[in-house]
Amino acid sequence: MRAKIYLVVTLVVALYFMKALISNAESLKEVFEDKFLLGVAMGHRDLGNLEIEKIVNREFNSVVAEYGMKMSNVMPREGVYDFTWSDRFLNFAMNNGHYAVGHVIVWHKNIPEWFFLDGNGEILKRDELLMKLKQHINTYVGRYRGQVHGWDVVNEAFNDDGSFRKTPWFEIIGDDYIEKAFEFTHEADPNAELYYNDYGLVNVGKQNSIVALIKRLKKKGIPISAVGIQGHYSLDFPDLKELDRAITRFSELDTDVMITELDISVLPFPDVEKRGQASKVEDGKVPVLNPYLEALPDDITNKQSRRYEALFCIFMKHQTSISRVSFWGITDERSWRNNWPVVGRVDYPLLFDRELQPKKAFFTLKNMSSFVKENCE
Ligand code: GLA
Repeated sequence: MRAKIYLVVTLVVALYFMKALISNAESLKEVFEDKFLLGVAMGHRDLGNLEIEKIVNREFNSVVAEYGMKMSNVMPREGVYDFTWSDRFLNFAMNNGHYAVGHVIVWHKNIPEWFFLDGNGEILKRDELLMKLKQHINTYVGRYRGQVHGWDVVNEAFNDDGSFRKTPWFEIIGDDYIEKAFEFTHEADPNAELYYNDYGLVNVGKQNSIVALIKRLKKKGIPISAVGIQGHYSLDFPDLKELDRAITRFSELDTDVMITELDISVLPFPDVEKRGQASKVEDGKVPVLNPYLEALPDDITNKQSRRYEALFCIFMKHQTSISRVSFWGITDERSWRNNWPVVGRVDYPLLFDRELQPKKAFFTLKNMSSFVKENCE
């Protein structure tokens, strides 16, 4: 009898530890795998860094290039393509089973001025620019047919009030340049998903225009798979209720929603005119705009972790519409937020610290599958 009790107790204890071991072995992507893809942006220095590649392969199942697939990277000179980095990146994605996102085809940034000019330096006419765009898409998207699963076809086409951003694309082609870009991309790779990506989507003005755009595309039979909500957030932006409403609104259109470019800055976000102010130590005083030069205090670490958790509560609530959540980088050290909106600060926006160690927010997210109910209510 005693032996039996002993056996049962041993078994229960063993099972308990095995369960703990199994859940400890879970990676972040596994925690969310029945809900949405978990992606990450990789910069030039990340690819080829074995420690970083290991983190990317262990924790994430989707990758996007932070810079390497923008227009001026793939076409550094008029008519001259350089696919060296993007080929390496997509090989990495394919060899490691990642869902690869192509970022980005049509945008007003990272595009050289000459793209819009003819051989005499004259601004191209509508038809000429459309032809050039079509050729570019055929070459670029065609090259990666079957390797890129989804493309950010157009990025940031609207102002916050919902009006069209006055970019050369808009000025030369007119407001149908977005549809044309979607059409050309679909022709070049009929199997790829096609996305519209933008920031500030909690602004109702911008939301209205994107809702109208999606309806317009659908009515014309032009495929759009998802709207990408860039998530460059902070400890107090955006208002979570507004974000919840924005996701609800887009998901009602029978289009997937993706949270792209997620990071949570912990630093002050000054108005434009104050951004030039010193963020370096002066007279031994801690700079107001750059307060955490040495380390992040525990209370802010906890605040950031709770903020990530609150965001993921919303994402999980909308899991049937959200197809992917992607972080805009792996480690704090390499995040663009160290240089935006103020240049040269020490920010801590991501899940891995400067020593490549997982942060509190990482563990909070990793535990979410078991804690979601009580923590999200
Ligand atoms: C936008 C772009 C990204 C990137 C970030 C800043 O969100 O879509 O490609 O440039 O800005 O890093």
